[in-house]
Amino acid sequence: MSITDVRIPAIDPSVDRTIQLVTAGAGAGSTCTPELAAGPWNFDGAPGYGPGSSMGDVIPVGSPRQGELPRAYRDATAEELDERIRTAKATLGDRVVILGHFYQREEVVRHADFVGDSFQLAGAATSRPDAEAIVFCGVHFMAETADLLSTNEQAVILPNLAAGCSMADMADIDSVQECWEQLEELYGTAPDADGRVPVIPVTYMNSSAALKGFCGEHGGIVCTSSNAETVLEWAFERGQRVLFFPDQHLGRNTAKAMGVPLDRMPMWNPRRPLGGSSSDDLTDAQVILWHGFCSVHRRFTVEQIDRARAEHPGVRVIVHPECPMEVVDAADEYGSTDYITKAIAAAPAGTTFAIGTEVNLVQRLAAQYPQHTVFCLDPVICPCSTMYRIHPGYLAWVLERLVAGEVVNQISVGADVADPARVALERMLAAVPPVAPRGAHPEA
Ligand code: 13P
Ligand code: SF4
Repeated sequence: MSITDVRIPAIDPSVDRTIQLVTAGAGAGSTCTPELAAGPWNFDGAPGYGPGSSMGDVIPVGSPRQGELPRAYRDATAEELDERIRTAKATLGDRVVILGHFYQREEVVRHADFVGDSFQLAGAATSRPDAEAIVFCGVHFMAETADLLSTNEQAVILPNLAAGCSMADMADIDSVQECWEQLEELYGTAPDADGRVPVIPVTYMNSSAALKGFCGEHGGIVCTSSNAETVLEWAFERGQRVLFFPDQHLGRNTAKAMGVPLDRMPMWNPRRPLGGSSSDDLTDAQVILWHGFCSVHRRFTVEQIDRARAEHPGVRVIVHPECPMEVVDAADEYGSTDYITKAIAAAPAGTTFAIGTEVNLVQRLAAQYPQHTVFCLDPVICPCSTMYRIHPGYLAWVLERLVAGEVVNQISVGADVADPARVALERMLAAVPPVAPRGAHPEA
């Protein structure tokens, strides 16, 4: 079994087979663990999240935690789960809307009413105000955002409460508050002659609601990977500098493309005084980058791009902006998951693409566009292990509980955090015209 078999699954959009190959040894050097191929219920104990929080925050007693998925769902075959999901969804009809992020496994995405990137799904969360429940097949911060944007009468459900985002967990509210206090001490709070305040906080959508609330309270804004440049422009109009969290790579790649020199982008490591930078560097800074990263996207390398070009002359290399700067620089293009999807859809037949993003999306695109060759830059990449926790068993469980009249796994953000978080999100939505979400998956 060669690596190429793993890399180019021409017709099978399910990533389960890839994991089985990787864990069976076809992908030596991979960080995939065999446990990943087994049920995600093996990981249900942790992490835990309080309302509106990241994993680094104190979790209030009584916050719901993922209990063990009932055995009937753990033991069911893939076909049985598929049938149970279809039946429950048909019974619920318009009472439920299912949202699925591009990185969800095929077995889940095929049941989604809307499939998209995090920006599009934030819009989709407002599109069906009459639905009683929004089942969000994605990760914790996305479900929180849906709760912030949906009506008070709607329940947002995350099928597995342990599905978080390791990058979002790298910035907690206490560390950001501490950072802010140090920056205020250094810069003061007075605006300059043009009315620009010393620093504007910008949080990537991949963050807890508490951080979005922090931005709302401090004149800041949220961004996603599809609107980061527009949002940074918004921030530079209002501030002399930006504090960007939690993803250093999205911040660096976006600011660099806008002409910000690297030496004016110091890093903030929350474990060090002044974030590990000198006060001179911070005074000269245009963008202060939080020391966060995505463990999936940081696995992509320039060597992988060189190899793809050597093996596939003429290949188009597109990577996500969460990849390290050298990788983005070496690629032909970079963009959000939506950008990648549209680029492949629009290409002339016979194009070969090497893609640097999560493997579930890459394999789905490979299956959806057989007229092209589409493969993942990393031949032995694991899926995002937290997105992967939304196994179809959990989707069947939450839907069947809804049919029985019970809402389980509800994500609700308290008003103290929700109100300012909504302000920051609304600034983002006003800064960028909302993009219509992609319609129902063809197989739904
Ligand atoms: P998008 O904003 O492109 O959906 O990406 C979300 C994400 O988690 C990327 O790792
Ligand atoms: Fe978070 Fe990375 Fe997974 Fe996206 S791919 S949800 S940033 S861990």
